[in-house]
Amino acid sequence: MSEPVIKCENVYKIFGANAQKMLQDSNGNVDAKVFQQNGCIVGVNNASFEVAKGEMLVVMGLSGSGKSTLLRCISRLTDATGGKIFIEGQDLLQLNNKDLIDLRRNKMGMVFQSFALLPHKTVVENIAFPLQIKGIKTEDSINKAMDMVKLVGLEGRENYFPRELSGGQQQRVGIARSLAVEPDIWFLDEPFSALDPLIRKEMQDEFLRLQDKLQKTIMFITHDFDEALKLADRIAIMKDGIIEQLDTPANIVLNPATEYVRKFTEEVPREKVLLIKDVMDTSIDNLGDLKVSNNEIIENVAEKILTQEKIVAVVDNNNEIIGSINPTKIIKTVFGGRKNNN
Ligand SMILES: Nc1ncnc2c1ncn2[C@@H]1O[C@H](COP(=O)(O)OP(=O)(O)OP(=O)(O)O)[C@@H](O)[C@H]1O
Ligand SMILES: [Mg+2]
Repeated sequence: MSEPVIKCENVYKIFGANAQKMLQDSNGNVDAKVFQQNGCIVGVNNASFEVAKGEMLVVMGLSGSGKSTLLRCISRLTDATGGKIFIEGQDLLQLNNKDLIDLRRNKMGMVFQSFALLPHKTVVENIAFPLQIKGIKTEDSINKAMDMVKLVGLEGRENYFPRELSGGQQQRVGIARSLAVEPDIWFLDEPFSALDPLIRKEMQDEFLRLQDKLQKTIMFITHDFDEALKLADRIAIMKDGIIEQLDTPANIVLNPATEYVRKFTEEVPREKVLLIKDVMDTSIDNLGDLKVSNNEIIENVAEKILTQEKIVAVVDNNNEIIGSINPTKIIKTVFGGRKNNN
């Protein structure tokens, strides 16, 4: 496997005057309660993981679980209290200011939970601003920014100031501004949460279309499991600063590592997560005529399978039969008691 784009080794972020010392004294065994009694708040607790090139890691967890703090450590908007972070093999904490600014300007893009727009610049100027910082000519940057304005559906509002926009519209400016730079590594902190459902779905689709084309390395925070399932290659679930599980959506739902993760995923519609290959049988006897791909999401082929009386063949990318699926299995997966399945 090629070198990961993002690599975290035992990353901690602890807030409070004694954070450094308390972390040292704890030998890495950080108990959030004990720390809190001593005036420290644990933001991120011993996070280790990698994100591969072109991968989209979605981070989930309740409010206050440390999602934004983790992202802020990796983009070094805040300094981790302990641990190591590597970006394309470079030790992030060793970078000097100039290298860090270069990295942010040319490699990393961020969309913040709080929109962080420049109040005295208009919509189009806000979007063009990072391009101009990169040295792109004003006219070119404005042209590119106008393309982005259209993309996020703000045409006609390009000369408004942020205060004249709704929260969702401001967030769209933030998204457009970060899209304009086309960074290799993208950090998005609940980028779509302020959008209404229709525009949110459009942005998700647009985002997937872009990602298909551009293959960015992405960390994306959301509260919305449907959104996570739609976008994620893998999902990290955080609780009290700890990454409880980091795995594919199917594994998180099928094999939750902790009781918390199980609860978190309890209501997730399985047919939206699981692929045919996750539930198929290996026997290939007595098959009917219908074939479905092993990589289909169950939801997409459930109806087709349910109209069959015979067992359905499952094929791989080369159209070779590799297994089978009985229509009753689909019914069990879709309608079977989600709470009792594990
Ligand atoms: N600058 C700070 N100083 C002190 N504590 C902080 C600071 N920033 C975050 N925290 C604390 O760290 C913990 C994690 O906060 P964080 O913002 O990362 O949560 P989150 O998972 O992003 O939540 P949300 O879903 O509400 O955005 C919280 O307990 C928070 O109060
Ligand atoms: Mg947050």
